[in-house]
Amino acid sequence: MGPPGAGKGTQAKRLAERFGMAHLSSGDIFRAEEASGSDLGAKLAEYMEAGQLVPDDIVVEVMARAIAGCDAPGLLLDGFPRTVPQAEALDAQLDRAGTPLDAVAVIGADDEAIVERITGRRSCPQCGRIYHVKFLLPENDELCDDCRVGLVQRDDDTEAVVRQRLEAYYEQTEPVIAYYHRRDRAKVLEIDGNGPPDEVTAALADAVTALGR
Ligand code: AP5
Repeated sequence: MGPPGAGKGTQAKRLAERFGMAHLSSGDIFRAEEASGSDLGAKLAEYMEAGQLVPDDIVVEVMARAIAGCDAPGLLLDGFPRTVPQAEALDAQLDRAGTPLDAVAVIGADDEAIVERITGRRSCPQCGRIYHVKFLLPENDELCDDCRVGLVQRDDDTEAVVRQRLEAYYEQTEPVIAYYHRRDRAKVLEIDGNGPPDEVTAALADAVTALGR
């Protein structure tokens, strides 16, 4: 969990690789649905481009299907759940499957750093690898280091939309952290995401290792 631009996607990819987990990003799943040209994708795009959260009933249905279809020994969820009703639905699904949630990692970052990160983000349309025009440059100008295809900017990565996404985060997503503290079922790991990416990865990896799983 964490506000837009905190580094969830960047760190989730690294952690999933390091600990051999599957990585499911709600945002990536929604953007893939949009790219498929489906009616559902068009509906999702309306919310994403406005910087608003997608309604819970749609999110829960799409994510429940994605989670059920995942047979890896460990799963790292990125961007889901993002409201208390989503967290309750996830708990119910995991209870039914007998697969408990071990931990909730919350990456924090300052609002102004977030705006700079989001407006400078570029990503590979083929593999999803994330770059930044200032903080995480590709080896060759504007080309993915792995796929060699041109990097792209997300439609919702403008300053106006990111400020709207931040508002949605503080109003609707922050209460989910209190929910997990109250439920006392999964360990909440609070990670400072303001440092350089490698520093954040090291802090997260230490916290996950300390879980002893
Ligand atoms: P989603 O795709 O999840 O977007 P988000 O939460 O706004 O998060 P971002 O992907 O923008 O940021 P991130 O934290 O992953 O940062 P990143 O690692 O890329 O969701 C998009 C939309 O889908 C939502 O607005 C909503 O409409 C909808 N949605 C998704 N899930 C939903 C749900 N559960 N319920 C309802 N609606 C939902 O890093 C950002 C940039 O910073 C990159 O360029 C990176 O290189 C750079 N960077 C990363 N870390 C550092 C660092 N430590 N120092 C400097 N630069 C860094």
